[in-house]
Amino acid sequence: MTYADIYKRSLDDPEGFWMEQAEAIDWDRKPSKALFSDRAPLYEWFKDGLVNTCYNAVDRHVEAGNGDRVAIIYDSPVTHTKHEITYAELQTRVASLAGALRAKGIEAGDRVIIYMPMVPEALEAMLACARIGAIHSVVFGGFAANELAVRIDDATPKAIIAGSCGIEPGRVVHYKPLLDGAIELAKHKPDFCVIFQREQEVAKLIEGRDYDWHAFQYGVEPAECVPVSGDHPAYILYTSGTTGQPKGVIRATGGHLVALNWTMKNIYDVEPGDVFWAASDVGWVVGHSYICYAPLIHGNTTVVFEGKPVGTPDAGTFWRVISEHKVKSFFTAPTAFRAVKRVDPDGEFIKKYDLSCLKTVYLAGERADPDTIEWMQEHLQKPIIDHWWQTETGYTIAGNPMGIEPMRVKIGSPTVAMPGYDVQILDEGGHPVKAGELGAIAIKLPLPPGTLPNLWNAEERFIKSYLTHFPGYYETGDAGMIDEDGYLYVMARTDDVINVAGHRLSTGGMEEVLASHPDVAECAVIGVSDELKGQLPMGFLCLSNGVTRPHDEIVKEVVQKVRDQIGPVAAFKLACVVDRLPKTRSGKILRATMVSIADGKDFKMPATIDDPAILDEIKEAVAGLGYPQG
Ligand code: COA
Ligand code: AMP
Repeated sequence: MTYADIYKRSLDDPEGFWMEQAEAIDWDRKPSKALFSDRAPLYEWFKDGLVNTCYNAVDRHVEAGNGDRVAIIYDSPVTHTKHEITYAELQTRVASLAGALRAKGIEAGDRVIIYMPMVPEALEAMLACARIGAIHSVVFGGFAANELAVRIDDATPKAIIAGSCGIEPGRVVHYKPLLDGAIELAKHKPDFCVIFQREQEVAKLIEGRDYDWHAFQYGVEPAECVPVSGDHPAYILYTSGTTGQPKGVIRATGGHLVALNWTMKNIYDVEPGDVFWAASDVGWVVGHSYICYAPLIHGNTTVVFEGKPVGTPDAGTFWRVISEHKVKSFFTAPTAFRAVKRVDPDGEFIKKYDLSCLKTVYLAGERADPDTIEWMQEHLQKPIIDHWWQTETGYTIAGNPMGIEPMRVKIGSPTVAMPGYDVQILDEGGHPVKAGELGAIAIKLPLPPGTLPNLWNAEERFIKSYLTHFPGYYETGDAGMIDEDGYLYVMARTDDVINVAGHRLSTGGMEEVLASHPDVAECAVIGVSDELKGQLPMGFLCLSNGVTRPHDEIVKEVVQKVRDQIGPVAAFKLACVVDRLPKTRSGKILRATMVSIADGKDFKMPATIDDPAILDEIKEAVAGLGYPQG
């Protein structure tokens, strides 16, 4: 069957198509049907099935005689450690951890926050939760205590599992004080914490609240897999929206299993047993789907890499890992390759390694710029495949179905809509536009299985954020176009979300932090183009009347405040003081115009601008920060 046949069938007969894909999952009770529409526009998939994610990701492979197959390869240049864990070992480890959690009172439906660096134990913690039906919420290690506290209050976890530390090049990130600080800040308090002590730092445990990862497993009965219903939340993953309050994306168990399993062959073209590597972090959706769940559900070997594309120790790290572990499909964000290209423009490191095992490279997380793709094509001589997705969808919305039928690559396009996604470009009135015309990218409901059915504790926000602007559609928040051949182009966000080194961040959230500085009367944060990270946040501060302190002192303080309250991952380092912000006559800040100025792009003077002279001041301020670049 061709891609076109499969795609058409998925839209004409979603029930038949997805029930067929569900056959590849081991159910405790098979679902009677795929789609449940009784609460439309809220849809659910495989709701009346009974199933366990951990069983499908671990136990079933052992039972099928593949216990000796390597499930996880841990490769950590920052700690000079490498080791392998087979499926049989993973089963023992996860069952033991799950048993210890159960012994401390964790039951199906309880939330568990996981705050860990890139170590196999992070995956084990996720799988142990899944084993007993607990709902995990992994929080990225680059977030500060305050962000962790916000998530604790929203998810109200019974337990938190954390590492003692993370390793960033040149520094140890002390997780334990961040964890303690977050629990102190949060209104909700977990019953207990489990701390995975690393060699690089042994954290001090709080008596009665904190348990050592190993000691707390001693003598416990290993837990068996607990079947849950298809609509049971497998996890909650918080992502940035337009405000400082992150959105808790829910992933429902049944659709997650079916859809992810389908993607491994059809999109990533791997067979069970092949080595698959997503160089991301378990704190992001790419890490959830493609470091942990999909490769394991499909019986692949996954690589847990603790390092950076450059500097750990050099720009050849990616190629070393690929060649040493025989990686067949490799997936990372374009920014990682921009970092490599900057250090090794002639691809000298690439020539040092035998990359014959590598079949295809996949890019996502941000727009893949043509320069980077062309550089990779030239130096790797492999297919470089861009694909577009979001935390909300959990896997590819538009991509190149390499396992069905590799399609011609058009640079700048992540190719075509994947099965189940009826992607359309709409004008402001919600009407489909003609091929080649720009508009909002929307997906006709229902979304396919594996995508978000709702937001945690925030159904109204879910409906308002995604389903209201274009009734009958899911609003992606991205803008773009579809060409005559059906190729999609994703050009920009329609909201204030920015993408910094493949990390999704809220400028609204940063503005909330700046506005809380006592000297700041008003502020704006925009995303400016950056050669390495794609975008960087830039802040503009208007000070309260009578503030006479030196501006650079205030700038330094707000930069530190964002680092302390959101985290280093925000990469907020550019800020300046201005007298006024450009606004419309009705008082709306003209952020898009400010972005054009900072990027050195032509722009049309907004007809509703209150005072055009302010734009000269903005131009001067961004020039002071070294922008536009180059
Ligand atoms: N724990 C604690 N701090 C972290 C962290 C973590 N897990 N991850 C990043 N940080 C810190 C970094 O140390 C850095 O701090 P600094 O301001 O003190 O230097 C800051 O957060 C910004 O990190 P990062 O965005 O990673 O920038 P970088 O300059 O360290 O590296 C790249 C740039 C391009 C090499 C890096 O961003 C990268 O590898 N990106 C891959 C993209 C990716 O994984 N995307 C996920 C979606 S696919
Ligand atoms: P996240 O939820 O962190 O995965 O971020 C999702 C957002 O990243 C999307 O809405 C896009 O704005 C952007 N994005 C992800 N992948 C791509 C891609 N391949 N091309 C363009 N933008 C992308």
